[in-house]
Amino acid sequence: MSRGRVLSGMRPTGRLHLGHLFGALDNWIRLQEEYDSYFFVADWHALTTEYAETKGIRENTREMVLDMLAAGIDTSKAPLFLQSRLHEHAELHLLLSMITPVPWLERNPTYKDQQQELTTKDLSTYGFLGYPVLMASDILIYKANYVPVGIDQVPHLEVTREIARRFNHLYGEVLVVPEALLTEFPKVPGTDGRKMSKSYGNAIYLADSPEQVTAKVKPMVTDPARVRRSDPGNPDVCPVFDLHKIFTPKEERDAIIDPGCRTAGIGCLDCKGVLLKHMLPALQPIYERRRELATRPDIVQEILEDGCFRAKKVAGETLAEAKEAMQI
Ligand code: TRP
Ligand code: SF4
Repeated sequence: MSRGRVLSGMRPTGRLHLGHLFGALDNWIRLQEEYDSYFFVADWHALTTEYAETKGIRENTREMVLDMLAAGIDTSKAPLFLQSRLHEHAELHLLLSMITPVPWLERNPTYKDQQQELTTKDLSTYGFLGYPVLMASDILIYKANYVPVGIDQVPHLEVTREIARRFNHLYGEVLVVPEALLTEFPKVPGTDGRKMSKSYGNAIYLADSPEQVTAKVKPMVTDPARVRRSDPGNPDVCPVFDLHKIFTPKEERDAIIDPGCRTAGIGCLDCKGVLLKHMLPALQPIYERRRELATRPDIVQEILEDGCFRAKKVAGETLAEAKEAMQI
């Protein structure tokens, strides 16, 4: 079977929300059916910015693993593992750091942006500069062909490609030059209409119960021009409608919600009721699975052990080849 290999990871930022589900996880879940896939939590990458405050990393990793499994990562197909358990990544990172010119890292737009944005942290570290080298080792050690990532990660992936080419040029064709898989994903607004984000406090989490989801959707921001029930609305500017696009079947949206909103035939509360009618059954199985898994740390541990074991096999082989090629 010559299907390509997919690899992706996420930094442990804590509980996952609908933005992660529709922006990344759903895509991973589709890919695992077609490709030889590997998924992991990039806990070393968390250290690049959180090195002074590490106490949340383990808990965030645990929460993220539960969310990934509950969302439908099928570890019988795709190993799920923790980066920090794979010292092979660290060794390849060291080897790759020898051939990576510092200017490649300094000119990375994400590097500059983050340093300017995260002003409360001292990011003038070696580790933070080397973020893309570590990411390159994560990817190259599996000889991944495709890396599903968000648009913000594309500059990092470009560095990975350059490092792979440089390695192959210097030592022979060992590494695979990967491609970013940028898939279209729907707009996922938070309850205040801005992009869904933990830091905005507007997120709906996979761990939220149906009651919590309902309590968040009910007061959600709508078309701001629709003040009274009798005012017609515009679904094109309404964040509730963006969620309808994800959860409500197209026929119902086109026949009932869209015209109902524009003619003031349907009120915002009813509209949200229709949304919840579709949203709750879609999210409930994830919520239930998550709750079940949260009570079984032994099973989760076993899944991760198994994932690490399977990942190690591939990572160890590539590392050995790389060392052989470098004659080290
Ligand atoms: N940098 C990625 C993020 O912030 C996480 C990550 C680390 C990653 N290593 C990776 C993603 C390798 C894809 C492949 O989300
Ligand atoms: Fe938004 Fe629905 Fe209200 Fe229209 S009826 S403004 S789509 S919540």
